[in-house]
Amino acid sequence: MDKAQQDAMKKAAGIEAAKLVKDGMIVGLGTGSTVRFLVDELGRRVQEEGLQFTGVTTSRRTQEQAESYGIRIVNVDDVEEIDVTIDGADEVDDNFNGIKGGGAALLWEKIVAINSKKIVWIVDESKVVPTIGKFPLPVEVIPFGHGHVVEKLEKKGYKPVLRLDAEGNPVLTDEKNYVVDLHLDKIEKPFELREELINMVGVVESGLFLNMVDEVIVGNPAGPRTLT
Ligand code: 5RP
Repeated sequence: MDKAQQDAMKKAAGIEAAKLVKDGMIVGLGTGSTVRFLVDELGRRVQEEGLQFTGVTTSRRTQEQAESYGIRIVNVDDVEEIDVTIDGADEVDDNFNGIKGGGAALLWEKIVAINSKKIVWIVDESKVVPTIGKFPLPVEVIPFGHGHVVEKLEKKGYKPVLRLDAEGNPVLTDEKNYVVDLHLDKIEKPFELREELINMVGVVESGLFLNMVDEVIVGNPAGPRTLT
C-alpha cells in the first residue's frame, strides 16, 4: 500500500467517523494524521452546516487545528464525561487490543479515553493485525532518571530506543516527558506487559490500550467497514 492509498483510507475513516458527531455533544478528539482528516471534516460541517459541539483535545496540535475552524475546545477537567472520543491507532488486533502513541500523545489520549462513554478508533487496513507488537510500543517516561529506566528495559530484552527529533534531541510530549519505543516484534501477553511497565518507577504510561475501544472504523474509499 503506498502513501496515497493509505491517506485515502485514513481520510475515508475520518469522514465516516465525523458522522457520529451530533449537535450538543462533547467529543474527544485524538491525535495524528488520521484524526487530522476527521477534524477537517468536522470543521467543514461547523462552517458549512452550523454543527455545534464541544471538543476535548488530546494534544496541543489537535487543539490548534480544531480552534482554527472555530470549534470550541475545553479542558478534560471542565467536563463530567465525554460522549464519544474518536482517535487513531498504530495497531489493533481482533480482541481490540491496540498500540497508540506513534504521535507521542499517548498519555493525554488515555486520559481522554478513560473519561469517555464511547471510544472509536479510525485506522487504515494496514493497522489491523493478528498480533500487536510489530509497531514499536511507545512508553512515556519522565526525563529525570530516564537513562536508568532505559537500562532496565534493555536488561528485560525489550530493545528500548529513546525517541529523538530531527535535531537529535529527545522528543517531548505535551507533558514535557520523553518517549521510549520498545522494539518487541510480537506482544503475546499484553496485559502482563502493561502491568509490568506501569509499575516501573519513572514510567508514566504505556501505549498499550487494551480492550478499551468500542468500535474500529477501517477506512476504505470504496466504503469503510466498522468492527464492533
Ligand atoms: C498519537 C497516536 C496516533 O493516534 C497514532 O499514532 C496513529 O497516527 P496516524 O493516524 O498518524 O497513523 O496514537 O499518539
